Amino acid sequence: MSSQAARLVVLVSGSGTNLQALLDAVADEAYGARIVAVGADRDGIEGLARAERAGVPTFVERLADHPRRDAWDREIAARIAGHRPDLVVCAGFMKILGAPTLTAFPVLNTHPALLPSFPGAHGVRDALAYGVRITGCTVMLADAGVDTGPIIAQEAVPVLDGDDEAALHERIKTVERSLLVDTVGRMAREGWTVTGRTFRFGRPGG
Ligand code: GRF
Repeated sequence: MSSQAARLVVLVSGSGTNLQALLDAVADEAYGARIVAVGADRDGIEGLARAERAGVPTFVERLADHPRRDAWDREIAARIAGHRPDLVVCAGFMKILGAPTLTAFPVLNTHPALLPSFPGAHGVRDALAYGVRITGCTVMLADAGVDTGPIIAQEAVPVLDGDDEAALHERIKTVERSLLVDTVGRMAREGWTVTGRTFRFGRPGG
């Protein structure tokens, strides 16, 4: 990555509060990154509206518009590549990206549970149902699995008596947003290496 601001493509599927935290962070030049595009797998979501309000280009690539998954994989990779990202950030993006994207770019993902516990689309619900007293959030590199990539950062959030899924998820998201912003900023400014499953900030040989 060059010493210029890192180019981020952010992918969203929902309300986009994690995206908003990144949009707010990149307003400061010292953050070291800028958002060059926001992509989604569906129309009409607040995440896209947030990008539009911020004047960031958007694109939508719907799985349903393709006869097969691999066609969608290729098309979304091409849409992402058109923006020449240094890093792709899945911020509440509810699809697994295929090889065309994963082999072309580093991809970061965020998950509302302490991996490897409770991967998948219902991490908050599953943690609550299991009865854990501590859960949290994880920022990791994406790979071909479901929330299985090398872990970059984690933060714990206690489960409170009387929590339901919505209340717990909101408290996790408060922590998740700042963890995501911190992590993306450090990756942009410091670079990183991955050895096996071990992620380290800092440029190779640095
Ligand atoms: C986050 O908790 C993310 O980890 C999960 O969905 C939530 C997205 O929230 N997959 P938002 O769209 O950023 O508000």
